[in-house]
Amino acid sequence: MCGIVGAIAKRNVVPILINGLMRLEYRGYDSAGLVVVQSEQLERVRSTGRVAELEQKSANTQGSLGIAHTRWATHGIPSERNAHPHISNNQIAVVHNGIIENYEELRTELTARGYKFNSDTDTEVIAHLIHSHYQKGNLLTATQKALAQLIGAYAIAVVAAENPQQFIAARKGSPLLLGVGNGENFVASDMSALLQVTKKVIYLEEGDVVDVSLDGYRILNEKGHEVERPIHISELNNDSVELGQYKHYMQKEIFEQPQALANTLESVCNSQSLVPGIFGAEANKIFPQIESILILACGTSNHAGQVAKYWLEEIAGVPCSVEIASEYRYRVSVANPKTLVVTISQSGETADTLAALNHAKASGQEFTLAICNVPESAIIRQSKLRLLTRAGPEIGVASTKAFTTQLAALFLLTLVIAKTRNKLTEEQEQTHLHELRHLPAALQKVLALEPEIEKLSEQFTHKHHALFLGRGVHYPIALEGALKLKEISYIHAEAYPAGELKHGPLALVDEDMPVVSVAPNDALLEKLKSNLQEVKARGGQLYVFADADTHIKTSEGLHIMQMPEHAGYLSPILHVVPLQLLAYYVALQKGTDVDKPRNLAKSVTVE
Ligand code: M6R
Repeated sequence: MCGIVGAIAKRNVVPILINGLMRLEYRGYDSAGLVVVQSEQLERVRSTGRVAELEQKSANTQGSLGIAHTRWATHGIPSERNAHPHISNNQIAVVHNGIIENYEELRTELTARGYKFNSDTDTEVIAHLIHSHYQKGNLLTATQKALAQLIGAYAIAVVAAENPQQFIAARKGSPLLLGVGNGENFVASDMSALLQVTKKVIYLEEGDVVDVSLDGYRILNEKGHEVERPIHISELNNDSVELGQYKHYMQKEIFEQPQALANTLESVCNSQSLVPGIFGAEANKIFPQIESILILACGTSNHAGQVAKYWLEEIAGVPCSVEIASEYRYRVSVANPKTLVVTISQSGETADTLAALNHAKASGQEFTLAICNVPESAIIRQSKLRLLTRAGPEIGVASTKAFTTQLAALFLLTLVIAKTRNKLTEEQEQTHLHELRHLPAALQKVLALEPEIEKLSEQFTHKHHALFLGRGVHYPIALEGALKLKEISYIHAEAYPAGELKHGPLALVDEDMPVVSVAPNDALLEKLKSNLQEVKARGGQLYVFADADTHIKTSEGLHIMQMPEHAGYLSPILHVVPLQLLAYYVALQKGTDVDKPRNLAKSVTVE
């Protein structure tokens, strides 16, 4: 989704803006632009290509105050005229992330007042609105007045041509943070854009407006009152967002999984027993009251939730439902105040998940827990309880290490809830803790399959469709494998619980339809073997990731990739990894943009 960078300094800020935009490229975008204030003029450069193109185009642009943007089109096609910043009457320039829902009516109103629109975006109304309230010296008040007229979500940064000493930024429903420098200050959509200049960060809250100048800033809350917000020192470092020895971020992030899991599990693995406190101080009070669990998430995070449902019901004996956040938020459902509402999100800013959380709260479900990779994200801040996954920044659009660390966190939740409900003996707890400690090493062994999977990927390059099969707790893993393949290789892929094949999808199977299956050595193995035979008998080509002791052998039409020993309940965490690698290598063969697949964005901050 759109990315914002703003800077005011005593030096030329163009390299800072460009570098920041490059750091935000991973969020997904289709055009980019910047404005600097120079000699009481707005100098704007825009481009529909990569940020590198914008860099070339702005080689001769200089200024010590500027705002910049990467756009992910919502209103109006990707084009230079729709790219931000949008300017009103050569006076006011705005960059915006979010969606203004009442832009049509505002546009009609502003047009009637003589404003000319040069783009199809909703953002341009913000520029004109601010201009309509603007008089020299009142950029803050003019912005506040304009914001009061907007319905929808926004993070914005605003400059005025006449004022080289100040810019205004604001957020509501879309992420924005303030970077505090030494005699220079910045804003950005996320911290990775600012690591080049500062580690001091203030996470702006819903409705905050900030007046930023060279040597200071003033934050006003939604009611217009001046407020103090704490300064955090970011733990991110430049290395964590560098590619290093890898070709792509996705590859890097797949290989970071053992470390990401070890980091996420660090505190619990060193302890002798699990306590509710790892989810926050109030967990001790909340967990004993819980009657059921409702998991809300989107995409990959939703798949993690689907795995957790199996664990929570089987190990903790607690009823659990998993809903797609974008559906739940608009559904009339029966709320139970004793339900623990668990949101799962890598970014913590996904608009649908955030809205679903608020919908659950509004319907009287106050027990909320977030599993999230970004501290201080909106989802974390708006939940009572939380567990941070410590995967580090995930840059590739295709989620990998976020998923496996979410699973680890959800397994911890399962164990703690099971303990609270007296469903876990001390011996069982110790066994599970032992398995968790072993997880990074087990995953390392799976990663050793890389060369074999690279070779296997050649079989998929010219395919147009693929089926993924799994059973039980591994069905969501098949879903995740299919999602990975389609999002980065553009091959159409569907996942089914293997037992469901003969109820329809089997009709699709022929020699052109590769069928990928995960085959853990669990209670459903024999059932799965029969399902695989059904595929084989119809001439399908099977590619099976089978645990060491399943005794499934390679034969005509059946290709086996040997996984390590069965990992018990944690098996889904291992079985997803070869599917990530398969998608990665197929995409590589097809020459797609692995880290920034077409049409997709990393942080889906609009509905
Ligand atoms: O940041 P979130 O986990 O809330 O994002 C949810 C989905 O947009 C995300 O998981 C998406 O499905 C991934 N790109 C898939 O790889």
